[in-house]
Amino acid sequence: MRRTHVISTGFRVPDRVITNDELASMMNTSDEWIRQRSGIAERRWVEEGEAGSDLGAGAASMALERAGMTADDLDCLIVATLSPDHFFPGTGVFLQRKLGIRDIPCLDVRNQCAGFLYGLSVADAWIRTGRYERVLLVGTEVHSTGLHKNDFGRDTAVLFGDGAGAVILGPAEVGRGNRNGSGSQRGILSVHIHADGRFAEKLWMEAPASKYNPLITHGHIDAGLTCPRMDGREVFRQAVTRMPQAVHEALDAEGLSIDDVDMLIAHQANLRICQMVQRALRLPDHRVYNNIQRYGNTTAASLPIALHECVEEGRLQRGDLLCLTAFGSGFTWGSALIRW
Ligand code: UT7
Repeated sequence: MRRTHVISTGFRVPDRVITNDELASMMNTSDEWIRQRSGIAERRWVEEGEAGSDLGAGAASMALERAGMTADDLDCLIVATLSPDHFFPGTGVFLQRKLGIRDIPCLDVRNQCAGFLYGLSVADAWIRTGRYERVLLVGTEVHSTGLHKNDFGRDTAVLFGDGAGAVILGPAEVGRGNRNGSGSQRGILSVHIHADGRFAEKLWMEAPASKYNPLITHGHIDAGLTCPRMDGREVFRQAVTRMPQAVHEALDAEGLSIDDVDMLIAHQANLRICQMVQRALRLPDHRVYNNIQRYGNTTAASLPIALHECVEEGRLQRGDLLCLTAFGSGFTWGSALIRW
C-alpha cells in the first residue's frame, strides 16, 4: 500500500518585525489588549514589493534544500493562499516561475485558514493513486498590505501577519511496520475536510468582487468593503468546537484515541482558541505546539510554519503521531493525522 509522507519542511517570514506597541501608534489598541485577547506579541510584515510568491519561493527553497532535491525534481505544485499576488492568474504560476520550473501543474487552493489541509488532502490523493511523485505544497500569505491599520480595522489588523511555510510530499510504501510503529508505517493516515457556506460573511473581505460592476469603486473603499470583516465571537465559538470535533473524527476513523497523539498543531488563529482546543482534547502542554506569539495569524501558512518550527526544535520524533487541525473563513475546517 502507498501512503504519502512529508519528505521535508521549510519556511520564510519577512525580516520586518512589527510589535504590538508599533500597532498602538497606528490605531487605538494596546500591547496589553492584544496579548490578553490573542496571545500575540509580534508579527512580520513584508517590505514594499515583496509578494506572497516571494515568501513561498523562500519556504520552498528551504524545503528543497532539506530534502536534498532541486526544483526540477518536483512534478506538481499546490499553493494555498487567501491573499494572492494578483486577482488572476493564481499565485501558483508566479511561484513556479520564481523556482525556475516549467510545465508542471500549479493548483491554487482558496480555503483560507484550512487551505493547507485542503491542499494536503488533494496532494495525498494524487500521491496515493500514483498520479504524482513529488508534490510541493506551500501556504503563503501577505496580509499586511490589505489590513486597515486604523480604528475601523483594528479587530483584524492586530491579529494577522505575513509568512509562508512549505512541505515536500512523496510516496512511502507501507509494510507491516516494526514494533514501535515507525519506519514503514509512516505517512499521512487521513485528512478530513469540511465547509459550511452559511457562515461565509462571518469572516470575509467583500471587495474587490466580480459580483459588482465595476468590481472596485471609490464607494467600496469608502464603505470599508476592502477591509477584512469578522464576527470575532462567532468565529471563536465555532473554532473551539469544530477543531476538537475534527480531531476526534480523524482518530475515530483510524481506531485511535487522543492518548495516541504525540503532537497537536492547531491553526494559529488566537492563543486562547488553541488553549481551549487543547483543554477540550485534554492534552498536556508538551504534546501541543504554538508559535502565534511571534507571527500572529498567517492563515494558510500557519500550519506549515508551525510544523517546520516544531520539527526544527526537535519536538517531533520519527514514529510520533502528529495531528493537525484548522478552522477559518468559509467556514472551512478539518484535520489530518500523520505518522511522522
Ligand atoms: O483564523 C480564524 C480567524 N479569526 C479568528 O480566529 C478570530 C476569532 N476571534 C477572536 O480571536 C476574538 O473574538 C478577538 C481577538 C477578535 C476579539 O476578542 P473578544 O474578546 O471576542 O473581543 P470583542 O470582539 O468582544 O471586543 C471587546 C472590545 C470591544 O469594545 P467594546 O464594544 O466592549 O467597547 C471592541 O471594540 O474590544 C474592542 N476591540 C479592541 N480594543 C483594542 C476590538 N479590537 C480591538 C483592538 N484593540 N485591536
